[in-house]
Amino acid sequence: KKSIRDVELAGKRVFCRVDFNVPMQDGVITDDTRIRAAVPTIRYMADAGAKVILASHFGRPKGQVVEEMRLTPVAAHLSALLGKEVTKLGDSVGEEVKAAVAGMKNGDVLLLENVRFHPGEEKNDPELAKSFAELADLFVNDAFGTAHRAHASTAGIAQYIPAVSGLLMEKEIRFMGGALSNPERPFTAIVGGAKVKDKIAVIENLLTKVDHLIIGGGMANTFLKAQGYAIGASLCEDDKLDLARSLMEQAKERGVNLMMPIDVVVADRFAADAEKKTVAIDAIPEGWMALDIGPKTVEAYHRVIVESKTVVWNGPMGVFEMDAFAQGTIGVARAMKECSGTTIIGGGDSVAAVEKAGVAEEMTHISTGGGASLEFMEGKELPGVTVLTDNE
Ligand code: 3PG
Repeated sequence: KKSIRDVELAGKRVFCRVDFNVPMQDGVITDDTRIRAAVPTIRYMADAGAKVILASHFGRPKGQVVEEMRLTPVAAHLSALLGKEVTKLGDSVGEEVKAAVAGMKNGDVLLLENVRFHPGEEKNDPELAKSFAELADLFVNDAFGTAHRAHASTAGIAQYIPAVSGLLMEKEIRFMGGALSNPERPFTAIVGGAKVKDKIAVIENLLTKVDHLIIGGGMANTFLKAQGYAIGASLCEDDKLDLARSLMEQAKERGVNLMMPIDVVVADRFAADAEKKTVAIDAIPEGWMALDIGPKTVEAYHRVIVESKTVVWNGPMGVFEMDAFAQGTIGVARAMKECSGTTIIGGGDSVAAVEKAGVAEEMTHISTGGGASLEFMEGKELPGVTVLTDNE
């Protein structure tokens, strides 16, 4: 795959798709990780003398102009991060846009309006893709977080102009892809989260690759019940018990060390101030629910994690938003910190977890993808990545 490092940028108009779909409250950005992650690419291109045209979606406006979903606050924030003016336009195609692009000087940075204001974006409408392509000489995809979407600005545009990856995209593929295709061993995956349903494909794919697979979070209950344990009032997917058994069988056949909780923190109700206690998994009281993995489990997981050469983590070990049930997740985060191998956080909730544990700085890579990271770990092709190989 070619990146912006392999092409001539001076004087070129570059249409750069980024993922600026950041959490925002009342027009204030509450987490700017994704914007900061795109800065090296933007700076590199501007410094090389490119005319940088940035495009992103924000939220799900469903093909209409939604005032609260304009990218105006993002442009202001980006401008501060870059220490450079970022011109923000009112649309992503049309006469105003063409005129603004025509007036750009080398090194200028411009941000188009939310591409999802046009229904053609999510439909991957060739007309819209062509309109994007006409603005530029080169397509740079740096939106790993949106790479699982085959939209006009993430995939369609690559039909018309050469496409290369940005530095963030390159980094995501190097770490996430490298871990999955050629990991240094032992290779451990940690999969958590509330439901088995959301992680079936991830677990199935990881079982073909890892040495150790650690399970935690609400989804562990279904596995425990499938093994015959009484799990009280714990969250459980009764329609996934057979699947859980089959996954355990697959792990055995492949010689994967599948690790389940041996103790759990149970509560008498689902609340931050519930009564709680730590019990072995064969002693979950009737009517109580498991909301976190217990300390013995953390110890066992810790031993495996610190000895691993590659660890990929997706999904919390318990209800970590509530401090009373965050210890398991924080324990795993600390083990990740102590691991001297490559440690990768596969997006979503686990990012918030390593931040809460204060160990984010020590991770080798924290993915900016949520859904995209999951699909990557499922072994699926991401359209936004595929177009980069097909049309360099
Ligand atoms: C994300 O936040 O996962 C990406 O920006 C994709 O957003 P979407 O789920 O609305 O396509």
